[in-house]
Amino acid sequence: MWKGRFECETSDLVRRLGESISFDWRLYAHDIRGSIAHSRALLRAGVLNAEEQASIETGLLAIRDEIERGEFEFSMDLEDVHMNIEAALTSRIGAAGAKLHTARSRNDQVALDVRLFCREETGIIEAALRSLQRALVEVGMRYPDTVLPGYTHLQRGQPVLFAHHLLAYVEMLDRDAGRIADCRRRLNVMPLGSGALAGSTIVVDREAVARELEFDAVTRNSMDAVSDRDFVAELLFGLGLLGVHLSRLAEDLILWATAEFGFVTLSDAHTTGSSLMPQKKNPDVAELTRGKTGRLIGNLMSILTILKGLPLTYNRDLQEDKEPLFDSVDTIKLLLPVIAEMVAAMEVNEARTSAAAADPFLLATDIADYLVLRGVPFRQAHEVVGKLTAFSLKEGRGFPDLSLEEFQSFSEVFAPDVVALFNVRNALEARQAIGAPSPNGVAAELARWCSALA
Ligand code: ARG
Repeated sequence: MWKGRFECETSDLVRRLGESISFDWRLYAHDIRGSIAHSRALLRAGVLNAEEQASIETGLLAIRDEIERGEFEFSMDLEDVHMNIEAALTSRIGAAGAKLHTARSRNDQVALDVRLFCREETGIIEAALRSLQRALVEVGMRYPDTVLPGYTHLQRGQPVLFAHHLLAYVEMLDRDAGRIADCRRRLNVMPLGSGALAGSTIVVDREAVARELEFDAVTRNSMDAVSDRDFVAELLFGLGLLGVHLSRLAEDLILWATAEFGFVTLSDAHTTGSSLMPQKKNPDVAELTRGKTGRLIGNLMSILTILKGLPLTYNRDLQEDKEPLFDSVDTIKLLLPVIAEMVAAMEVNEARTSAAAADPFLLATDIADYLVLRGVPFRQAHEVVGKLTAFSLKEGRGFPDLSLEEFQSFSEVFAPDVVALFNVRNALEARQAIGAPSPNGVAAELARWCSALA
């Protein structure tokens, strides 16, 4: 695009190495929006006259429409989106186009574009995330009384309501949404005017540009502004952790859909068959969610590694920020709606969940609590119930099938009212603390989420 001091053409291999247009073309709308705001600032600074500014603005909008219609031809020789658009503008409108890059560098230009991109995408992702939360809450409301075992170490622990299990993910996703919103708040600062690294001798009103582009503030250090990609790293962390949460949900669903658990049936629309085994119904959506989390984590590692050795200020390494960013954004936008759809369409096999939740050993802690409420120190109660469990296992009879005398042979504190414990409903009712899975507590949480997400 410019010859200037160079005496020979760039090598073809270098062109291929250095081009970013194959992926950064998607910044075009942000690039054009930023350039229009910059042209208005140049007008106010007296660098452009009204006619020049108007022809820049009209020219840029025409280019944007052309790109949108798929009619614009990007050229690899022009390296990136900024130069492709500027070259097209100048070839169309002439001299005025060549003035647009006054008091601006691609370094502050790309920093602006990437911030605008992140700002827009975080809004879209947050909305998709809220829809997934809504789907989880709705399924919880569809099965308000369903109980299943809660697990630790993937061993049955204590009974919980199915809705309580789903609401655990709603909480995780809420923190994810909070992290993404927080990231957006921090990135919504306007870098244009930082120039290559030291601003410009031609001074434009940066605050007016910020207002026009709906930024909350302007960056306060030009060197920081052109070399900072903290916001990309933050966003990739936020999306990575969101992916980790989605992957854990996927893993629960994969387990629950096995013949061994049989707790849920995923819809045919969200499963696939096997090319060999006709009986198979595979939970591919959940597996791909789990698998794609690998790239989300990898992308975070990429940006952190790109940044770690860079001296101030801009270095070309920074061009490598875009592919991991785009990939994580695209991956999350692909996953969130399909998981929401899968969750909304799944069916719970209550015969299986309640059979599993009827495992009397799930109430062992409640028996220990019974003793505690009658004055036995917890450690001693734990010991008693441990022995009782071993006895029950050896006998092949669950707690409800043991006689009162047998109970009393382990502790004299047991009384006839111990039988009231062998009821999952009672066990849940008793868990009245905030955050515990009592039926009224869970119903209140479902209602709270339902209105919060409305
Ligand atoms: N395509 C470049 C990037 O994404 C734009 C900035 C280029 N700046 C430079 N000094 N070569 O980082």
